[in-house]
Amino acid sequence: MVVGDTGKEVAVDIGGGQGEYFVDRARGEPQKTFVILEPAPLSLPDKPPNLHIIRWKSTAALTLPFADKSIDEVNINYLFGKMEPSRLERHRPLDQKEIYRRLIKDARQVLKSGGKISIIDAHCHINLIKEILIESGYHIVQEPISLPDPDRTYWSGKFTEDYERNEESFVAPMIIEAQK
Ligand SMILES: C[S@@+](CC[C@H](N)C(=O)[O-])C[C@H]1O[C@@H](n2cnc3c(N)ncnc32)[C@H](O)[C@@H]1O
Repeated sequence: MVVGDTGKEVAVDIGGGQGEYFVDRARGEPQKTFVILEPAPLSLPDKPPNLHIIRWKSTAALTLPFADKSIDEVNINYLFGKMEPSRLERHRPLDQKEIYRRLIKDARQVLKSGGKISIIDAHCHINLIKEILIESGYHIVQEPISLPDPDRTYWSGKFTEDYERNEESFVAPMIIEAQK
């Protein structure tokens, strides 16, 4: 496993999409290890050596593929409402809030004490995400604010365009950060 006890800080992006955000981060912070978890196939020809890709999909039955207390930073960007149930779960569907809550709790399990979780999502979801973080035992270190760099991820850029075109404040990209 890529995140063995190397002594390096490890940052994870769950549902990292095509990986643009972590490619930039990995190039800018070569001293850290970056891991993208993504169910869709992802090929990055110019992948920096400190960036790893794991084909992985969160389900009710699966936990994150890391040891407890081994991760320094978890990022979850635009995943609320986007997580499709696995084939097994279709027979007893969980609502999106429940699926998301399980993932947030699981992320807390793999984070080191003092580790950070950073979540970007649409304005309309951010207060519910804050409630889930608090219920799951995190301390909020950054209250929800407008994302200062709207092009941080592919989807934050897309939602920013939508927001600017239609002035629909519910899609505006927001960020919230919390600590274990
Ligand atoms: C809206 S995109 C966001 C991509 C990226 N985080 C961004 O902000 O540009 C949602 C991503 O989550 C992935 N995804 C969907 N269901 C997932 C699951 N159950 N577990 C992990 N990732 C999932 C999708 O394949 C997709 O890449």
